[in-house]
Amino acid sequence: MQQILIDTDPGVDDAYAILLAMLSHEFHVPAITTVCGNVPVDQATQNLLTILGLLDLDEFPMIAQGEAAPLIKPLVTAAHVHGDDGLGNTSHLQNANGSPLYPPANTTLSSMTGTELILEMAAQYPDELIIVALGPLTNLATAIRKDPAKMRRLRKIIIMGGVFEEYGNVTTTAEFNIFVDPHAAHEVFQFGVPVHIAPLDATHQVVLTGERLRTETENQEDRVSRFLWDATQACMEFYREHVGFWGFHIHDALPIAMLTHPDYFESVNAYVQVETAGDLTNGMTIADLRPERQRSDPNAQVCLKVAAEAFLNAFFERLHAP
Ligand code: BDR
Ligand code: CA
Repeated sequence: MQQILIDTDPGVDDAYAILLAMLSHEFHVPAITTVCGNVPVDQATQNLLTILGLLDLDEFPMIAQGEAAPLIKPLVTAAHVHGDDGLGNTSHLQNANGSPLYPPANTTLSSMTGTELILEMAAQYPDELIIVALGPLTNLATAIRKDPAKMRRLRKIIIMGGVFEEYGNVTTTAEFNIFVDPHAAHEVFQFGVPVHIAPLDATHQVVLTGERLRTETENQEDRVSRFLWDATQACMEFYREHVGFWGFHIHDALPIAMLTHPDYFESVNAYVQVETAGDLTNGMTIADLRPERQRSDPNAQVCLKVAAEAFLNAFFERLHAP
């Protein structure tokens, strides 16, 4: 059983990832922390509760709200992609009697901050805890600053973020999670705990089309399927207008599947750096991936290839399993 802590800024694709993780028997998820990113952090926490409310859980993970602002830069959000509430405006949907269609989970927040909960879990599961980071890396950097010794005992950190051989999705050169807090990303990459990265180069290989999502969800009675269909509409419209197809990249689900189905992913060792200063290149992730240029001290594994169809099949299998 893998012990994972999810650090997240939900976010529609974060919802896919969290649901996949919670429905995967390989994991125990003792804690989930929220961070500002797609939406301000209090909305991210609200969204996490909504996502967990879709599941009939016997035991809830501990939940703590993390950082409300990046280390140095002002916060940039992504409501234009994920809807005003970050979950495709599903928070406005109601039952006939006026109650929310997707009510929050009946659980309470920890009194700890996100940083404190990360450190608490790192201490509770030394050499075992895997952090899956699905948003900007602010909470992780803050935890590293506060107690590096505890963070050194992490087993690894898996990140959705960055882009290496393609264009970025916020600027020409930068991917959203790294762009929002490049200083935090720099500190995490330099820290020395093994980092495994799912960049846009990998996540763009998985194309969830609107047609596939419809087929997978339309005759299903369960709340998870209904929610995914409802929550993804706004994103798919954004993609239709700005990306060129009706569908969605479920970026954040990849790091989860890298743990459950490692055979579907091919990665290379690399020395990854983050541009924190440049105007045009702020938040760019830089690594020379040419085999003959490899340094002897890689700080990350970068995933560059995904068995996309197998991954999508596995995702929906997990989703539909009783
Ligand atoms: C990343 O940015 C966010 O909008 C998504 O949730 C994902 O984590 C993709 O660049
Ligand atoms: Ca995210």
